[in-house]
Amino acid sequence: MTNGNRLPGATHLECTATGERVESERLVGLSPAGKPLFARYDLEALKGRFTPQAVAPRRADLWRYEEVLPVRDRSHQVALGEGWTPLIDAPRTAARLGVRRVWVKDEGQNPTGSFKARGLGMAVSRALELGARELALPSAGNAGSAAAAYGAAAGLPVHVVVPKDTPAPILEEIAALGADLQLLDGLITDCGKVVRRGVEEHGWFDLSTLKEPYRVEGKKTMGYEVFEQLGGRLPDAIVYPTGGGTGLIGMWKAFEEMERLGWIGAERPKMFTVQAAGCAPMVRAWERGEDHAETWQNATTYAAGLRVPGAVGDFLILKALRESGGGAVAVPDHVMKEWVEKLGADTGVFAAPEGGATVAAIPALMKKGLVSADDEIVLFNTGSGLKYVGMTPVD
Ligand SMILES: Cc1ncc(COP(=O)(O)O)c(C=O)c1O
Repeated sequence: MTNGNRLPGATHLECTATGERVESERLVGLSPAGKPLFARYDLEALKGRFTPQAVAPRRADLWRYEEVLPVRDRSHQVALGEGWTPLIDAPRTAARLGVRRVWVKDEGQNPTGSFKARGLGMAVSRALELGARELALPSAGNAGSAAAAYGAAAGLPVHVVVPKDTPAPILEEIAALGADLQLLDGLITDCGKVVRRGVEEHGWFDLSTLKEPYRVEGKKTMGYEVFEQLGGRLPDAIVYPTGGGTGLIGMWKAFEEMERLGWIGAERPKMFTVQAAGCAPMVRAWERGEDHAETWQNATTYAAGLRVPGAVGDFLILKALRESGGGAVAVPDHVMKEWVEKLGADTGVFAAPEGGATVAAIPALMKKGLVSADDEIVLFNTGSGLKYVGMTPVD
């Protein structure tokens, strides 16, 4: 399969809106149509060789899926232990919720305490491989500390722009990891404008969510992992706390790849987005039956990762929800917090508010008839509660 350090990598990139092919061996951002790009692989050639059996004994991080990842040379895999997080059986939470089975994918155990390590680990590795010299991103917090960590590990400078009310532990973390940290009186969308200026004036490479093609490749590994960790099958439902939506979009992409690789058939989990009541652009668009989401005004929530008023991948999120038979629901901050505490007491996992939101979503989804008592559900706790110490619900 591989020759020394060389890996197959992607064959090309593809515009998610128009299908236009774009060359993958140079640094790129969005497609010519201004939409996210997806990496494509020669899955036909990998079929029968890149199998669950072949992957089973491999290293316990996301690089176990290296044939369907974009990095071409193993020496460019910047690794800090990202991925292969535990999938924790939560029988007491299942009983409390009145559903057959609940699993918690504990992404808080990643480097820098959140699932952002997957996407940024991949994006920084690939940026290093393609010769980027200086990296930058706007962040709600966790992506900033993950970028800082992988930039430090790769020896590349990173500029991080975050809202000034980002949780204090995350700000300290970013600074301690050696990144250039700028605080802004505004939201992640305003931070994005500062990064764009730096891109134009100083040639920074922009690592914004879905504005480069590889963060989603790191995040998609969550889909491969859930399949492997359930013993070679997928659950009935997945609940994902959605900001920019990279993880949800990534897992949906992974399932398509897995079908083409012969790992699964046409079956898919119902995909559910949960957002905060104070910032729910995807939920609103979902309820209105729209293909794109309008920007949310005056976004407020203590779940920093969900304070994302607009997403470049909105149409991809809504498409995955629709095609999977899933849906979207919003929950207030104080209910997230209640479920952080119940989940903690039931499982031993101290979840981020975003993780609490996924549990809080279940009663609402059951009421709407979107989740049934018979379902086996995977909840994504996307970060560690330790990163939010001192933050309180805004409603
Ligand atoms: C802990 C946490 N959960 C969820 C999200 C939302 O993730 P995504 O932007 O992939 O939808 C974030 C984003 O910052 C986050 O930090």
